Amino acid sequence: AKEMSEDKKLYRYKGVLYPTLMCPEEHMTALDNLKAREDDLMLVAYPKCGFNWMVGVLKKIIAEATGEKNERKTPPLIEFFGPEVVKVMEESPSPRFLGTHLYPDNIPPSFYEKKTKIMVIFRNPKDTLVSYYHFCNNNPVLPTVSWDSFFSQFMKGEVAWGSYFDHALAWDKKIDDPNVMIVTYEDLKQDLKAGVHQISNFFGFTLTEAQVQQIAEKSTFNAMKENSGQSHGNIGNVFFRKGEVGDWKNHFTPEQSREMDEAFNKHVAGTKLGAKLDY
Ligand code: A3P
Repeated sequence: AKEMSEDKKLYRYKGVLYPTLMCPEEHMTALDNLKAREDDLMLVAYPKCGFNWMVGVLKKIIAEATGEKNERKTPPLIEFFGPEVVKVMEESPSPRFLGTHLYPDNIPPSFYEKKTKIMVIFRNPKDTLVSYYHFCNNNPVLPTVSWDSFFSQFMKGEVAWGSYFDHALAWDKKIDDPNVMIVTYEDLKQDLKAGVHQISNFFGFTLTEAQVQQIAEKSTFNAMKENSGQSHGNIGNVFFRKGEVGDWKNHFTPEQSREMDEAFNKHVAGTKLGAKLDY
């Protein structure tokens, strides 16, 4: 990754930008062979909305509920798999834990056909943008970028995995699907215990009050940051930066804040997801 020139770090597949190294075309086409199961657990997030946080929570829920630990260090993103891992997944015992940053329409259709439970986490777009900006500058597989240019790329959807607004609108269309549950970063920050409860119920697991409490305690930002070497290897710190609501106030100019407000009001505010985001 270090050797790759900046302008080659992203490429376009079916109109959307992806990191060349992690999601080459071969990986995207391999997804045609990934067959969903009804008892898969699928986690979806636009980048930087709290995906790794929920990976931590779900791994702990699965471990408590089934007694099985999922010790894989890599994030469970299906677009990172490639043909070999797709084959391995075919042999993997249930319940499989999978994740993705893909648009709902680009998730293999069998996940909808099998009625796989899909949990989606969203986050205020301003904090998402800030988090994504830092991530680009700390992650060697993404292009380094200045604040102002990243701001305009994000607003245009010219970033890896595409437009935040398109993702939001596409998930809003599925918000009433009983197999889809949308949670928000902000709600989870406010009451993680309630979140763990809601998430385990959605996936059909019954945990005791003590188990829920313990999972919530081990899933705070500080606890997960401390454990990041274990969970993510030596780039762990890149995924656990600040973990707060409202860091955008330290980054956005008043003009940029207005621009985001306008875009949010125009695209998302009037939707059910918009109401849930409590912007
Ligand atoms: P910040 O950059 O604002 O700190 P993703 O996992 O989707 O890439 O999202 C990363 C964001 O989630 C980062 O936001 C990261 O710090 C935050 N995060 C990770 N673990 C968290 C936790 N346990 N509690 C709150 N936020 C967390």
